[in-house]
Amino acid sequence: MSDVQEATNQLLDVSLHEHQKSIPVTGSGPRSESQHLQVTIGATVPTGFEQTAADEVREKLGSSCKISKDRGKIYFDISVESLAQVHCLRSVDNLFVVVKEFKDYPFKETKEEVLKDFEELAGKLPWSDPLKVWKINTSFKKKKTKRKKINQNSSKEKTNNGQGDKTDERDDKKGFINNTLDSHILDYYENPAIKEEVSTLVGDDLASCKDEKDESSKEETQPELLKFRVTCNRAGEKHCFSSNEAARDFGGAIQDYFKWKADMTNFDVEVLLNIHDKEIVVGIALTEESLHRRNITHFGPTTLRSTLAYGMLRLCAPQPTDIIVDPMCGTGAIPIEGATEWSNCYHIAGDNNPLAVNRAANNISSLLTKSQIKEGKVSWGLPIDAVQWDICNLPLRTGSVDIIVTDMPFGKRMGSKKRNWNLYPACLREMSRVCRPGTGRAALLTQDKKCFAKALSGMGHVWRKVHTVWVNIGGLHAAVYLLKRTPQAFIHPSEQDGERTPW
Ligand SMILES: C[S@@+](CC[C@H](N)C(=O)[O-])C[C@H]1O[C@@H](n2cnc3c(N)ncnc32)[C@H](O)[C@@H]1O
Repeated sequence: MSDVQEATNQLLDVSLHEHQKSIPVTGSGPRSESQHLQVTIGATVPTGFEQTAADEVREKLGSSCKISKDRGKIYFDISVESLAQVHCLRSVDNLFVVVKEFKDYPFKETKEEVLKDFEELAGKLPWSDPLKVWKINTSFKKKKTKRKKINQNSSKEKTNNGQGDKTDERDDKKGFINNTLDSHILDYYENPAIKEEVSTLVGDDLASCKDEKDESSKEETQPELLKFRVTCNRAGEKHCFSSNEAARDFGGAIQDYFKWKADMTNFDVEVLLNIHDKEIVVGIALTEESLHRRNITHFGPTTLRSTLAYGMLRLCAPQPTDIIVDPMCGTGAIPIEGATEWSNCYHIAGDNNPLAVNRAANNISSLLTKSQIKEGKVSWGLPIDAVQWDICNLPLRTGSVDIIVTDMPFGKRMGSKKRNWNLYPACLREMSRVCRPGTGRAALLTQDKKCFAKALSGMGHVWRKVHTVWVNIGGLHAAVYLLKRTPQAFIHPSEQDGERTPW
């Protein structure tokens, strides 16, 4: 039995009753019931790599995926026994279990009507199975250690959006202040695909302070109360309500329905209300920290998400024994992801900046330590090396590399656009030298598309562009170019001159 299977079986033995007083669990026992539980999982993925993620899900879980119209999300059905494998997927950032999907939600005309409907919706949703999955999932979930403050200006804007007479009445009734702010942001929303309003229902600061005191005195006598928050992600067509209002009213109704306690930061359950045009998906978050952070401990100024690194590597279809090089590796996100997922290949990470090489080496070393602690035995190590070099002059034999995957300096936070005019053609030339003619391939990420296109136009004899994936990197419109090395042998410029010489 695999470790994952064993962990899953143990988890199925976990009592589902612990916190869920209002959710009856019937049947002979939680294990037998949960074993047959089928649920839909939603996952956020790097934009442009939805199909790659769908392919990974099909390959590893045998489930086919629905790719959402709302970019950067996929959905697939699983049996709860596969939950541990879902957390091991390399292409997904955040996971949630779907409570209900409305493909064409009948939004009413006025804000008051829509918000009233959201309130009524809370009590009508099929919460039971998703909550069982949430409960089983708590043992898989990596706890988030640090949260980031969000920009106060946008918070202010949300504050004003939420004001109104009607809402005051509702807030009094439910014990929430209106216009409460999302003072924290989860990695979930770092997905740049989600260019949308994000609001989270928050309890009144004062009320929650008071509640905390009250809670501490009640603690000894009363069983633990579930804490929750609602996060609304709203995008697309203009809606007559803000995400703040939707989160607040939907959250208020959930509180009434389950008798849970709203808590912005120390929540147990995070309910997601994802609204995209006329589509609504209500879900329960299964990840607290984005899975893309799993490999890296020493971050640099432009560390790439491991999920995007996975997508780029996968585009090149690595084969056993392939030599895979990232010649501008920074913190090593790409080769580290490569060495973890394609351990039957050899990965080389290089950079001209000694600080970057150091970070990459530290990241490799932390990962080894982590896996030794986890496995409880001395690890075999990872098939990876980190080297300091200049991409324009690589210490590698001509035609010795199968795959090059790299994230080139965009010329914004790293390097400069001006320098890219010299760097990009030199990179492409040197990469064409080391890459095996006929079979070699490269996946190159850049936002400096104009410069890249110009550099590539002079290299048609050695590189053929096969495919472009448009991605969004921290709000920048970037591209991953998949190139194939043509069969033409590399001819050094000096030899080219020689050919032209008559003697
Ligand atoms: C966009 S960053 C790569 C970030 C990396 N993917 C990560 O996750 O940290 C580009 C890298 O190219 C490196 N670089 C720039 N010019 C180079 C050169 N001539 N040779 C090798 N590396 C170079 C920079 O030092 C930088 O680390």
